Amino acid sequence: MARVFNFSAGPSMLPEAVLEQAGAQITNFQDSGQSVMEMSHRSKVFAEIFDETKANLRAALNVPKTHEILFLQGGATMQFAAVPMNLTAGDRRRADYAITGSFSNLAYKEAQKFAFCNKACSSEDSNFSYIPEQSQLKLDPGVAYFYYCANNTIYGSEWPYVPETAVPLVSDMSSNILTREVDFDRHAVVFAGAQKNMAPAGVTVVIVRKDLPKALDGTPVMLDYQTMIKSDSMHNTPPCWSIYILGLTLKWMIRNGGIEGMAQLKQQRSSLVYDFIDNSDLFSGTVRRSDRSGMNITFTTGDESLDRKFVSDAESAGLVNLAGHRSVGGMRASMYNAMPIEGAAALVAFMKRFELSVKGVN
Ligand SMILES: Cc1ncc(COP(=O)(O)O)c(C=O)c1O
Repeated sequence: MARVFNFSAGPSMLPEAVLEQAGAQITNFQDSGQSVMEMSHRSKVFAEIFDETKANLRAALNVPKTHEILFLQGGATMQFAAVPMNLTAGDRRRADYAITGSFSNLAYKEAQKFAFCNKACSSEDSNFSYIPEQSQLKLDPGVAYFYYCANNTIYGSEWPYVPETAVPLVSDMSSNILTREVDFDRHAVVFAGAQKNMAPAGVTVVIVRKDLPKALDGTPVMLDYQTMIKSDSMHNTPPCWSIYILGLTLKWMIRNGGIEGMAQLKQQRSSLVYDFIDNSDLFSGTVRRSDRSGMNITFTTGDESLDRKFVSDAESAGLVNLAGHRSVGGMRASMYNAMPIEGAAALVAFMKRFELSVKGVN
């Protein structure tokens, strides 16, 4: 079978050049006589992969010296606990949470085990179809941090602005990291699971301010940012293979214009699909236009059985994983950095054909 256009929300497509390079090196990395999967994480050859990957990530995202880059395990979900455990010791035991979808809700619930959390806003009243505006945020200047999920993978919305707050920001950027610049002067912690824009599942990128306070008493060592900062993510065995693939993906990204190139591609891909949806009599988007995600495009025909037919016909045409999340239904086209513009064009061409066939034209 030829390679398909895979619209999965994650794990998702990786650049073909990266897969080929990893394949070519799989049994013998750069004449070391070993696969990266077999190497000691403390060996010189792996140290080079690790250091280069970290340096390339620092350069790509313009991460200042005030912040450390960590390569951790446990997925983005583990950070839902790590964040409050590391940021709410001392007299700032409270945190503000913006609830704009499933993952921010999960993060809020987890954080409540360790800190006093306020809902600074919620778009649940309208099935998370929008991002609240700055004027709608209920901000408490005494909290340790303000938490938001920059891109809501399930509902298909993306913050069109960076919240203005008196306190540091914490952001889950799992589904839009490396697609836009990040202002690290305002973010104390940015984290992202790798399996959408960076690498296979296994590594979680966590970028933290180095001068964070001591973690809460009783914080497990694997969740303690200071331990991981001191050991350069090597308190135990790091996810070596995923870090290596992240390194290859970053080099691919640099060859393709870096963040700016990725941001342009994101804009081109998503406007192709949104423009078609906006002019279609059959399909409609599910998110307020100003807040639509550049990565996860959610849409529906309004008829569940037609939606199911769309997903299954698309699969037969080589466009796979277009079903919406099981909790939402409809369709979702996830197009991360590795999705070529041809994938978006093929999706639009298929949507056109489908619409015509429903109208009985074909
Ligand atoms: C925005 C966001 N946050 C968190 C998660 C959970 O990530 P993980 O499975 O790495 O824990 C996901 C997974 O899709 C996500 O999209």
